[in-house]
Amino acid sequence: MADVLIVGSGGREQALAWKIEQSEEVAKVYVAPGNAGSSGNIQSIPIQFDDVDGLLNFAQEKNISLTVIGQEIASEVGVVDAFEEAGLTIFGPNKAAAKIETSKAFSKDLMEEQKIPTAQYKNFTDVEAARSYAISRPLPIVIKADGLATGKGVIIAYEKKQIDKALDQIMVKKIFGNSGDTVVVEDFLKGQEVSLHALCDGKTSVIFPAAQDHKPIFDGDRGPNTGGMGVIAPIDWVKPEILNTVNKMVVQPALQGLIDHSSAFKGCLYPGLMIDQGVINVLEFNARFGDPETEVYMRLLDGDLYKILKACAEGALTSDMVSWIPGYAATVILASEGYPGSYTKNIPIHGLETASNREDIVIFHAGTAIKDGEIVTSGGRVLNVTATGESLEIALQKVYDAIADIHFDGMQYRKDIGKR
Ligand code: AMP
Ligand code: GLY
Repeated sequence: MADVLIVGSGGREQALAWKIEQSEEVAKVYVAPGNAGSSGNIQSIPIQFDDVDGLLNFAQEKNISLTVIGQEIASEVGVVDAFEEAGLTIFGPNKAAAKIETSKAFSKDLMEEQKIPTAQYKNFTDVEAARSYAISRPLPIVIKADGLATGKGVIIAYEKKQIDKALDQIMVKKIFGNSGDTVVVEDFLKGQEVSLHALCDGKTSVIFPAAQDHKPIFDGDRGPNTGGMGVIAPIDWVKPEILNTVNKMVVQPALQGLIDHSSAFKGCLYPGLMIDQGVINVLEFNARFGDPETEVYMRLLDGDLYKILKACAEGALTSDMVSWIPGYAATVILASEGYPGSYTKNIPIHGLETASNREDIVIFHAGTAIKDGEIVTSGGRVLNVTATGESLEIALQKVYDAIADIHFDGMQYRKDIGKR
């Protein structure tokens, strides 16, 4: 029997653990550092996701058969490189392959070389050159810090003076640090945003059904962006033809580009797309599973996730390994008061057991901890309440019915997930 290690602390990692634990080949799943949601054969261990040596020592000591990267920082700090060097099996891109997410300039150049459809752009290290190019293009125009910026490094300028402000903040004031040494200036795209996920073993890719996230904190897509407040899948209007086109015109050329440039990509490639009347453009690539997309995908996946991810890590993925149960799944995030700004922690959570006992409900913990034997809040996004159903409406109704059982002071959530 195999033991598995998952790296990360959110709802995404709990969902991966939940699914992997169901494999008949798996005995135990460790989540580093995990949260209060681990129980039974799933165990949280106090090793941080960027502690390369700590993770490596643990995996060697426990004879871990497969390590799975959830949290993308782990790839950026070199966890995958260290594990590969030590001859361990790990799912997730190494540092060089993760560059498709960690450098937007690299990613855009790769798209251009591989003729992957994307907005017209130029990369700049000089603020004046960036400015002249930006004002020469039609408004609105999009300015992006090159490196990771906790999802805040993209500014859409609707007026000329916003161009100056954006470039000043990113390139001169360096509000995102070194991430702003280079900027991408690109044309604005309109349309519907869709996230797609593809499992990749370096060469072969298997694309998931489409999911739709809801990023702004408030109903009606108002307020500041968050990590994601709710997801539904599949999206009926994203037909299999679109998925096939994305696999052929986006994912496959990206994998080839990474082989040519840096390193084969083993992991989950997650392109953010803008689709406008059937025309597909790539906004960005992520080199990881989405959160909370994963919480929904794990409810729909019909296959042995341990075998699938191991095959990805070993370059042996085949499309017949991945199948989906019929129907729909949804998740709604319960967040702390104040999120995505500052929030208070250690607030007791009530009603989890009652809610979890409902039919077709699985609750994945995100920002939770145990304090004095009680489950308390410990993050901005606290819980993912997920359900499946034969229609989207049924799945969503089950989610909202379960939410009615749960309470913590200041709890906030969107009441309009899936209503767009
Ligand atoms: P990114 O991190 O590059 O996906 O950008 C974050 C968000 O900014 C996206 O989810 C879009 O909503 C928006 N965005 C990025 N690039 C563009 C673009 N070229 N046109 C319109 N919106 C964009
Ligand atoms: N759900 C958005 C993300 O994972 O980036």
